[in-house]
Amino acid sequence: MQQAIKADALQIEGLSVAAQIGEKSYKALDGVTLSVARGEARGLVGESGSGKSLTLRAVMGLLPANLTVTAGAIRFDGRDLLGDGGKLLHEVRGTGISMVFQEPAVALNPVMKVGRQIVDGVAWRRGLSGRQAKELAVELLAQVGIKDPARWVDAYPHQLSGGMRQRVMIASAIASKPDVILCDEPTTALDVTIQAQILALFKALKTDLGAGLLYVTHDLSVVAEFCDSLTVMYAGRTVEQSDDLGALIASPAHPYTRSLLAAVPRIRGPIRRLRGLSSSAPSLTERDQKPAPALVACGPGRQVAPFTAEDERFFARDEEV
Ligand SMILES: Nc1ncnc2c1ncn2[C@@H]1O[C@H](COP(=O)(O)OP(=O)(O)OP(=O)(O)O)[C@@H](O)[C@H]1O
Ligand SMILES: [Mg+2]
Repeated sequence: MQQAIKADALQIEGLSVAAQIGEKSYKALDGVTLSVARGEARGLVGESGSGKSLTLRAVMGLLPANLTVTAGAIRFDGRDLLGDGGKLLHEVRGTGISMVFQEPAVALNPVMKVGRQIVDGVAWRRGLSGRQAKELAVELLAQVGIKDPARWVDAYPHQLSGGMRQRVMIASAIASKPDVILCDEPTTALDVTIQAQILALFKALKTDLGAGLLYVTHDLSVVAEFCDSLTVMYAGRTVEQSDDLGALIASPAHPYTRSLLAAVPRIRGPIRRLRGLSSSAPSLTERDQKPAPALVACGPGRQVAPFTAEDERFFARDEEV
């Protein structure tokens, strides 16, 4: 097995995004900072509305029309993705960095056969013949656990179940063997067996090809099993992160992380979900308009956002809910 090369492939530094709603502008993201190395799977957690999907979309240059990056840097292999009129981003999107979206229905083209959408870009770049492209599509469909892939390769998205569409999207994201894969809850819609199969596939991409993964999930068992490192977001900000997942879980430094993790053991059953479906976080319009304070080091490869005694009381109360 090839040894993964340790080098930051993706760096997000102080990323701020403003949302224009009517006449007003609100902070959707505020100083988000994280990085993903090749061969690393970084979990990204935080309750609903904390800005996980927006962070991923900002990296891909696919923010909704009323949202704009107002500050910060996004680098791929040390090169600024936001500069040069988006030329580098255009170059690396789909090849260097790809994304598995939270909603497969919007990400797939309804009038293109699924096989073609999976391999179109790769086939063009590698100069594959039509037959070779189709063979590759069938192989990728098999890899993501679709039975009888030769039958489905010529289907249209609406002919597939939700779970199958999700797998088609994963196949399309891994087709070019990208350096970084942004995964937005990629297995939430899938049953447990397929979920295990997809995770094994991501693991192989990570260890054998040295891909870096940024993995958004609400499922702590996935984080524990699969991730090397973790970033926690709250209300559009990075509140805590660690290159060593175990160190963060063993002794969370921020009161929000403590409350997030404390919510887990009370939920019984094999799948332990992080709090995330119901949010007690301030909505966009209620958020602190002061700039986010810089993160401070709190151990090797660890950072935490400064917090006040009032924050401690606020989140401790949350823990008791
Ligand atoms: N087009 C938009 N206009 C205004 N606000 C938006 C827009 N898209 C997202 N937001 C807001 O930005 C915030 C972050 O949204 P985001 O989708 O990134 O959350 P998330 O962490 O991915 O949540 P979830 O776990 O529910 O997927 C939310 O408060 C959301 O309402
Ligand atoms: Mg989301």
